[in-house]
Amino acid sequence: MSDTPSKLPEELPRNVPEASPPTIRLEEVHKTYDLGEVKVNALRGVSLEIRAGEFVAVMGASGSGKSTLMNILGCLDKPTRGRYFLDGQDVSALTKNDLAKIRSHKIGFVFQQFNLLARTSALENVELPTIYAGVPVAERDHLAKAALEQVGLADRAGHFPSQLSGGQQQRVAIARALVNGPSILLADEPTGNLDSRTSVEIMEILQKLNEAKGLTVVMVTHEPDIAQYAKRAMEFRDGRMRRDVLVQNRQIAAEVLPTLPSVDEDGVEALGKDASA
Ligand SMILES: Nc1ncnc2c1ncn2[C@@H]1O[C@H](COP(=O)(O)OP(=O)(O)OP(=O)(O)O)[C@@H](O)[C@H]1O
Ligand SMILES: [Mg+2]
Repeated sequence: MSDTPSKLPEELPRNVPEASPPTIRLEEVHKTYDLGEVKVNALRGVSLEIRAGEFVAVMGASGSGKSTLMNILGCLDKPTRGRYFLDGQDVSALTKNDLAKIRSHKIGFVFQQFNLLARTSALENVELPTIYAGVPVAERDHLAKAALEQVGLADRAGHFPSQLSGGQQQRVAIARALVNGPSILLADEPTGNLDSRTSVEIMEILQKLNEAKGLTVVMVTHEPDIAQYAKRAMEFRDGRMRRDVLVQNRQIAAEVLPTLPSVDEDGVEALGKDASA
């Protein structure tokens, strides 16, 4: 891959309310994986700000550092160099324990592979983070049910992942990410395993959460069609951010869905790819 002098971002986002302080701020963040013989510079000086209520798509070729970035944003990993301010607090130097605490209250994570426990019902999967967060037993069930309701799956609470379509499994995973009431949702290729209609259904949920609840959403995607549902798009190349633009002609999932070929109720179950088997 060529490493020509970096182009300036084509356009800086202009829809961002300047008054509100950034919820996410990275200053010259580097991440180097040290494999002994070789060192991999996965992030090479990333500076960015994301404000509350933004919906950002993160794009870029395989290996460009997207997941590394998400792991740092999600406090799953720490920068090798540079600083990360989360809601104004410098979290780059915190201990693993402190990071875990922040993560469990502020951040929800959604992955391409859903990562649900196979022998555990949808409701119990959603409840898990409440246990880690120390939520009293009496409240857990209520919170989990409310989160399942938010993704339209209240009627599937007792189902196991293998009894759910791919789209439904991803909705359970979103409910699990929401159950502790985070302000930031990080989704790493949430539609990577889903067919196109189901992907738009997932976008409908993310857009709804972003609009109605003001949830800040950062979503990695390889698909330009899916990035169109975000408000802002960043492109990474070789560990650097090369583009940061407003999404033009943003798609609204609730408007797009009726124009897509529909599947009948039974068909929906059969369409999703099952990754839990
Ligand atoms: N735990 C790790 N140890 C060593 N190297 C790693 C590790 N995780 C990622 N890398 C390397 O860091 C670079 C960036 O990886 P990353 O997973 O962030 O890319 P990505 O943009 O998410 O790619 P993809 O689109 O394939 O998911 C790659 O060269 C990768 O091989
Ligand atoms: Mg990745």
